[in-house]
Amino acid sequence: MSILKLITQNFRNLDGKQIIFHSDNNFIIGENGSGKSSLLEAIFFLGHGKSFRTTKINSIVHHQESKFVVSIKDFEQQQLGLSRDVDTGQTDIKVNSERQSRLSDLAKNIAVQIVTPESFKLFFGGPKERRRFVDLGLFHVKHDFSHQWRDFSRVLKQRNACLRSVSGRSMLDYWTDIFCQHCEIVAQSRSEYVIELTSELKKWTQLLLPSLSEQINVQYLQGWNQKKSLKEVLLESRDREIQQGFSSHGAQKFDVRFLLNRTSIDVLLSRGQQKLFLLALTFAQAKLIERVNRVKPILLIDDIGSELDINSRTLLSQAIDKLNCQVIITAIDRFALEPLVSSKKNYKMFHVKHGGILEISDVDKS
Ligand SMILES: Nc1ncnc2c1ncn2[C@@H]1O[C@H](COP(=O)(O)OP(=O)(O)O)[C@@H](O)[C@H]1O
Ligand SMILES: [Mg+2]
Repeated sequence: MSILKLITQNFRNLDGKQIIFHSDNNFIIGENGSGKSSLLEAIFFLGHGKSFRTTKINSIVHHQESKFVVSIKDFEQQQLGLSRDVDTGQTDIKVNSERQSRLSDLAKNIAVQIVTPESFKLFFGGPKERRRFVDLGLFHVKHDFSHQWRDFSRVLKQRNACLRSVSGRSMLDYWTDIFCQHCEIVAQSRSEYVIELTSELKKWTQLLLPSLSEQINVQYLQGWNQKKSLKEVLLESRDREIQQGFSSHGAQKFDVRFLLNRTSIDVLLSRGQQKLFLLALTFAQAKLIERVNRVKPILLIDDIGSELDINSRTLLSQAIDKLNCQVIITAIDRFALEPLVSSKKNYKMFHVKHGGILEISDVDKS
């Protein structure tokens, strides 16, 4: 899907006027605090049912209002909409005017990927961010995964309850056995996905980091010592787990490491190179999602200028052409967008000021 028209209501400082996008490239410029990230956040919210910036939904709705709306129409006239009443907590989802009950009904139609200056958290933010990234891809690419994850989470809760309470202790062995089975299922899906992701990633690092591509690798850590069975590991750590009151090994503890040879990428690469790597990773995930779901991804890049020099932006421009999907890129000014803009004919440019988004006409662009 590519967005033709976006309308928001009461979404942060956005003025709510409709925006008509280009099917390929869209560049948004504006000063700090004008509303660029808010615009991307609105699109992201529609795709994921949450923000990439905050878990506090109350901060998204325009001051003194209680409900925000985001709706889009694509180039095939398909319509998606989401509204959220922050007072009641009610979320309404509509696909082609029909009310739907689940966010996954939206996610089937729209696959939004984003790279922001905060995406570096994938390296520094601890395993939580990396888990979120991989599981998001899995959710789209392996359709059994959401069921596997739901069943696993239920079993994990039961096992933790047994670890916490003396009365539940008699059931600990029973739930440990089931827990091990579910961990194996989830770990297997993740392992398969990381292999697919790594192979797709290679294509994009060859484009964006050609001199380093061969040495880049992704290591998957399943959440317990790979040389032992989970049952063995849990037996050994039984007393400690009872003391802690939660499961300290298992599929919930998985991680992925991004390595250059054997060292973590963030230690060896410059900030600019790290950003190119993050873009390559995001493009790889977007392509996998497209291949399996047959939904064209929409790529959002917030504040492109930070960290990327002109050579990096040239490589990025070529990669975007190859990605062949709708991209929406923000920057402080048009200089930060060079040479992306000058190398493309198929684009629209917008200027954001105090939440109002105006298309810049061809005359003004030059
Ligand atoms: N809930 C809200 N209601 C109204 N304005 C908001 C809300 N949340 C943030 N803002 C304001 O929206 C503006 C745009 O922020 P942002 O999109 O982050 O700007 P940019 O990315 O262009 O720097 C900021 O000035 C901010 O103070
Ligand atoms: Mg911003």
